[in-house]
Amino acid sequence: MCGIVGYIGEKKAQPILINGLLALEYRGYDSAGIATIEDNKIQVKKDKGRVNNLYNLEGIQDLNGTIGIAHTRWATHGKPSMENAHPHMDNSNTFAVVHNGIIENYHELRDFLMQNGYTFLSETDTEVIPNLIHYHFEHNVLENNDKFLYAVKSAVNQLKGSYAIEVISSLYPDRIVVVRKDSPLVIGKSNGENYIASDIPAILPYTKDFYFLDDNEFAVIYQNKTEFYDASLVKHNKAIKNIDWDANAAGKDGFEDYMLKEIFEQPTAIRETVGSRFHLGEKCTFEDLNLSKEYLQNIHRIYIVACGTAMNAGLVGKPVFEKLCKIPVEVNIASEFRYQDPLIDENTLCIYISQSGETADTIAALKLAKAKNAKTIAISNVIGSSITREADYSIYTHAGPEIAVASTKAYTSQVVLVTMLAIYFAEQLDRCDTNTIEELKENILDLPTKVETLLQNVNEIKRFAKKVYTQKDMFFLGRGNDYSVALEGSLKLKEISYIHSEAYAAGELKHGPIALIENGVTVIGIITNPDLVEKSISNLQEVITRGARTLVITNQSLPNTHFDFVINIPETHPLLSPILSIIPLQLLAYYISKNKGLDVDKPRNLAKSVTVE
Ligand code: AGP
Ligand code: GLU
Repeated sequence: MCGIVGYIGEKKAQPILINGLLALEYRGYDSAGIATIEDNKIQVKKDKGRVNNLYNLEGIQDLNGTIGIAHTRWATHGKPSMENAHPHMDNSNTFAVVHNGIIENYHELRDFLMQNGYTFLSETDTEVIPNLIHYHFEHNVLENNDKFLYAVKSAVNQLKGSYAIEVISSLYPDRIVVVRKDSPLVIGKSNGENYIASDIPAILPYTKDFYFLDDNEFAVIYQNKTEFYDASLVKHNKAIKNIDWDANAAGKDGFEDYMLKEIFEQPTAIRETVGSRFHLGEKCTFEDLNLSKEYLQNIHRIYIVACGTAMNAGLVGKPVFEKLCKIPVEVNIASEFRYQDPLIDENTLCIYISQSGETADTIAALKLAKAKNAKTIAISNVIGSSITREADYSIYTHAGPEIAVASTKAYTSQVVLVTMLAIYFAEQLDRCDTNTIEELKENILDLPTKVETLLQNVNEIKRFAKKVYTQKDMFFLGRGNDYSVALEGSLKLKEISYIHSEAYAAGELKHGPIALIENGVTVIGIITNPDLVEKSISNLQEVITRGARTLVITNQSLPNTHFDFVINIPETHPLLSPILSIIPLQLLAYYISKNKGLDVDKPRNLAKSVTVE
């Protein structure tokens, strides 16, 4: 949550900082601000509202400093306001700080600082940081060039919680000090200039060479060099990573919204994710996984752990592993898993799915499994992200940057990758006949074209969206895999249209929720499993009888029924059907949100990357 940007070089920092914030706005967007240094003086401009508002701030164009830090906020402590916006300064205006995360012991630190004469202008937890730095700077015995870094380190030693912090000082206009713990930060290296950001897309137009800061690691960034220090301030060298994302991939490319663009990018995202991991008639390969056959044979249980959409992708993975590998799988919400003392030992495999690779609960759930000696695999879309650095093994979806808060192409790519992982295991384990596996593979290879076909026919969904966008409640019903899709379709709708919706296993409706069905309520049914068609139709019939308006997404030829709308989707292997049936539901959420005139890409209260618990 929240986006941080930094720049040091020869160019005017202000436009680079604001452009970076605009690219990161999906991470938080209730207030924004920048600080630069000119003539040994820190200048801060900030306000509540979107990043674009910064352009209207008086004097912002006159900031000519070539070093600066910037922030777009997702408030945790204190309402969105000018006072609470970052950067925050210490009382003497010597240090400016931007912070992503939460300082859990800020009350205690605030009291300590107040007893020492400091005053506070904001309600944020963050404001203790610049003042603590100042306190340590004043009380520090060192009188050398490292005094600034030591003061930051002493302040950080007192912080509990999560943070990615950038600090500048009017006394040291040639450097930016950064440190992180449980919140992401990357440093982009270029010729005679360096960039800092919470996430790669913000600085992708300037460089493809990145350092990924580790937890408790400090960096001092100058125009021509970056120095890295561990938690005890022992200096070390750090390897640089080249990220080959295309800078244009982070733009809207003529689409009205990122979400629509990302929905339409799904054929490519699936193709890239499949990549060269398999060819028909040959075994699936995962170069980065060297799990022995003996280890795989001894796995008693697999946990798939994730949050939100990534968890919904995990639900689709469960039957694939169980059918192909005959290993029981439990899918868990990360924030629950970590507190439930799950049964984990060295014969448990834990798979973590996270688009961003920065979700706090998922990372914590991964650390828990590692502490209990289980092997861990991360599935992420972001190379070098925190989760991939924590896990024993990492495999990547190649969906390209996903900017819209509502996840779409990451979901379908995750489902494809989890399925391929299960195929890879099954081939090692030899617990499934080759015909089934080959059939699945053929179907995977056909998916991109089928998604393309689906995306060519959006008119029916548009028409339905127009009919129902004023609704207050909607229901999504399905059985088996169709239920997993119902959950994801319902989540999409809630997120961007603010319509209350519920997803139910179709057979469960009559055990209570059917009481909510009345004249005109919209019910969306997903029917793709040939064995369950009749059962699902009966469940929908029950709601039609009670006055519901129905939309059905199906790849089956349904008998004459009374559904109001039917969207036909291409057939595929039943284990893969979610990849196709989710597309109309993504589009439905999108068009309903557009009909309501909402900001599709930046829905209220949400942020793309949830780096707080
Ligand atoms: C998706 O539409 C959501 N915004 C959200 O549920 C998301 O999937 C969840 O926060 C997990 O994020 P991650 O994949 O980056 O870990
Ligand atoms: N906790 C800080 C605040 O509320 C930072 C929040 C963020 O990460 O944007 O200001």
